[in-house]
Amino acid sequence: MIVGAKTLVRAIRDDDLPKLVQWRNDKSIQQNLIGWHFPVSLEDEKLWLERVRGDRKNKRFAIEADSGEYIGNIGLYDIDFINRHCGFGIFIGDPRYRGGGYATDATIALVKFAIEELGMVRLWLTVLTTNDRAIKLYERVGFKLEGVLRHQNFRGGEYVDENLMGLLKEELITT
Ligand SMILES: CC(C)(COP(=O)(O)OP(=O)(O)OC[C@H]1O[C@@H](n2cnc3c(N)ncnc32)[C@H](O)[C@@H]1OP(=O)(O)O)[C@@H](O)C(=O)NCCC(=O)NCCS
Repeated sequence: MIVGAKTLVRAIRDDDLPKLVQWRNDKSIQQNLIGWHFPVSLEDEKLWLERVRGDRKNKRFAIEADSGEYIGNIGLYDIDFINRHCGFGIFIGDPRYRGGGYATDATIALVKFAIEELGMVRLWLTVLTTNDRAIKLYERVGFKLEGVLRHQNFRGGEYVDENLMGLLKEELITT
């Protein structure tokens, strides 16, 4: 378990899946997440979890609030132990826990883990340029804009740009 000040980053459990199905089908979350989104069932998510549990390069975790509730997911992607970099991603599925600093806390905890325990020297992510809230969070913990991927995403009938952001290990802001 990775322990933050007000969150725990832990393995995703089978009993998390009903909430995850609800969030994955939630348009307000989907519209901010990169990638394409199809409706999913509990059975789909069970298969997804079985598949990702065996994945050594992409690690997905649950975020648990200090109340004990499962509130979202967080992960490290394309972990590269030679060049020592990996991708980062997060969502807070439960709207009651957005804007309360839980995302910031879990992000700091997992990025710190990636640097201190996995030896990563750089983390990177992409975020829709329309997602002000996520960009604010990433800047807050030290990610910097490295470039704009123009028209990288098609959604709602139009193309949207993505920001490529990166954080070098000495740039993490933990306060
Ligand atoms: C992006 C997301 C993870 C941020 O979570 P959150 O709970 O708002 O994050 P926090 O409460 O830790 O706040 C992070 C920062 O955003 C700011 N913020 C909160 N609401 C905001 C809003 N509506 N607009 C702009 N900034 C906002 C906070 O003030 C905070 O900055 P501060 O520490 O300087 O005050 C969450 O909104 C989410 O899951 N959204 C849907 C999925 C998503 O977009 N994931 C990221 C894909 S790249």
